[in-house]
Formats: sequence, structure tokens, C-alpha cells
Amino acid sequence: MKTLLLSTAHTDLERAAEIIKNGGLVGIPTETVYGLGANGLDPAAVRHIFEAKGRPQDNPLILHVHRAEQLRDFCRDVPDAAWTLAERFWPGPLTMVLPVRQDVVPAQTVAGHDTVAIRCPKNDATRELIRLAGVPIAAPSANLSGKPSTTTAQHVLHDLDGKIEAVIDGGPCQVGVESTIIDLTVTPPRLLRPGGVTLEALREILGEVAVDPAVVAPVPAGTRPKAPGMKYKHYAPAANVVIVAGTREHAAAYIRRHFVRPNAVLCFEEELPLYEDLNPTVYGFERDVESLSHNLFASLRTLDRAEIGTIFARCPEGGGLAMAVQNRLRKSAGFHVVDADTEQ
Ligand code: TXA
Ligand code: MG
Repeated sequence: MKTLLLSTAHTDLERAAEIIKNGGLVGIPTETVYGLGANGLDPAAVRHIFEAKGRPQDNPLILHVHRAEQLRDFCRDVPDAAWTLAERFWPGPLTMVLPVRQDVVPAQTVAGHDTVAIRCPKNDATRELIRLAGVPIAAPSANLSGKPSTTTAQHVLHDLDGKIEAVIDGGPCQVGVESTIIDLTVTPPRLLRPGGVTLEALREILGEVAVDPAVVAPVPAGTRPKAPGMKYKHYAPAANVVIVAGTREHAAAYIRRHFVRPNAVLCFEEELPLYEDLNPTVYGFERDVESLSHNLFASLRTLDRAEIGTIFARCPEGGGLAMAVQNRLRKSAGFHVVDADTEQ
């Protein structure tokens, strides 16, 4: 199959909408990462998503809508909190888990769950596409399963060229990491994945919010986390990622002691002088977490070469958006973190 590279011009969105209506797959830009979209109400189209990505069948998809009122169409018993969150954060990087209307949404889309993850993305072209298609678009991140998510149309082609009908080039994604997922079917509501809408912002509206253990630690073998996707190895380049925590000086000393060419260093702009001779990859400023989240996956992709062996990575500390960067980087490292302040 020849994969079409489409623009966000109206005629191209109409073409993409036809593809979706006919059961095909389209790479879609969003403010978080690119999605691999299909008609979320068509079981056969949804099956193609799983095949193209090599995604485990038990991992449900996010349903993308173009306006908040559609919550009623696909969810049951929508609580007031969901409407409040939608008003405050949609369109935007927040996914809500709610009871699914099983009479409308096929079991394939939600992988047999009685809940559905739903979000309204902040990308005008993609919302217009959903409106034109006349159906909600089910979309996981548009990467091969296990690989870093895609934040440009070129990344999507790298992973999926020839396997999907089209990709819409909407430029690089602003946020750069996937949406925040909040489960509203439990009390208190539970954060299943940190993202662009911060835990602090959710707590301001919802009061108490629990944090799923899978956000900060590996999922023990044999257990079933609430977001099934959290149990799989994720965001992993071909080389091993090791997070080196601790002060700038201790981290640099640790990395210099263990570095063998052609290992890689993934660090902050501010620490560049400490690694200049090691050909480091900079992914942003430590003091500007948005720059780090924006570039993280693109950087992991440029370092996706097995011969590198080990990638020594620096990770921002603190809450807010840093929590999302920590989560993705820890998962890409299989939670391998060394503390350079204590470990030599
Ligand atoms: O930003 C995003 O959310 C992107 C863009 C394309 O919208 N999408 C995305 O999809 O990251 P994906 O499939 O890569 O991640 C969705 C996560 C998975 O971990 C999945 O297990 C979880 O959401 N999920 C989906 N439906 C769920 C449900 N009903 N209950 C709990 N977790 C669910
Ligand atoms: Mg994904």
C-alpha cells in the first residue's frame, strides 16, 4: 500500500475523512503525539490498528471526539466532574475514563472493558477531520508497539509507511508526550498516566486524586494495572537507557566513569559543558520542562540504534509536567535509575 502524505488543507481533510469512513487508517496530528486513527465504531477498522502497530489485543484505545457534548453519545452516567474537566481542559491533553455505552462502542475498541477512554484533542485539523468523518476516531499513538511515540509526520512514516492509507502532516506536536489519563469510574478519581494536564491542576478541580502505582514503579509480573498499556515495555530505543540521578557534577563524574564509545548521553542544555567531548544529545533546558517534554521522544528516536549499547539520561525533578517526562523516561529505562550522589 502507498501511504499518502496529506496536508491540513480542507480538501486533504475531506480525503482523510473518506478514508476513515471506508475503514482505513490515517495518522493524525494532535497536540500531544501523532495518533493512528480509524473509525472507532467499526470493529474491522479497529482491528487494523492493532495489526499495523503490532499492539497487544488486550490494550484498549482512546476514542477521540471533536466536542465535549459527544461524551453523552459514547459514555454512560457521565458525572458532573467529567463535564467540569471537559469545560476546563478540552480541547486539550486530558483523557477521561468513563463507563462505556456498550450498545454504541464495539468491544474491539475498548478491548472488552466496560469503560472507555475518551478525549477531545487540541488540533484544529484533527477535530475538523473527526467532524467530517461523522464518527469518533479511535487512535493509539502512531508508533510501532513498544517504540517511542511519534511527534512528527516523518516519524509516523518511519514506523508505518506502507501499512496505513495516509498521514496528515500537522507539523511537530507541541506537548510531545501523551495525554494525562484520569479514571473517573473510581473514588477518589485516579491518575493512570501523567501528561500535559498536571496532577496539581486536576486536584484543584477534583480535590483528592489518587496516583496509580504503575505511574511511578514497574508493574509486578502477573498483575493487571488499570491502564493495561502501563504493563508493557514502552518508549524503548534499541539501546538500554539508564537514568543518572544526582547533582550535575556527581552525574557527570558517574557517566564519565562508565561511558564507552559509542554510548550516548541525553542531557540538559545547562549541562552541555560537562559532556562536550562525549557528543551529547540535548533535549531541552532543565529550567524549561516544556522544552524537555516537547523533544523527549524525538531525541529517543535519534538515539534508537542498537550499537550505542547504553544511553545515559538526565531526568528533570519535581511535579507538574516533569512528572510526565519522568514517567516516560523511567519506562524507557525499564525503571533503571542510578543515584550518582551515592553510587560510584
Ligand atoms: O495523547 C494521547 O493520549 C495519544 C493521542 C494520539 O491522543 N494517544 C495515546 O494512545 O497515547 P495509546 O493507545 O498509546 O495510550 C492509551 C493508554 C494505554 O495505556 C491504554 O491502556 C489506556 O490508555 N486506556 C485506554 N482505554 C482505557 C480504559 N478504558 N481504561 C483504562 N485505560 C485505558
Ligand atoms: Mg502509545
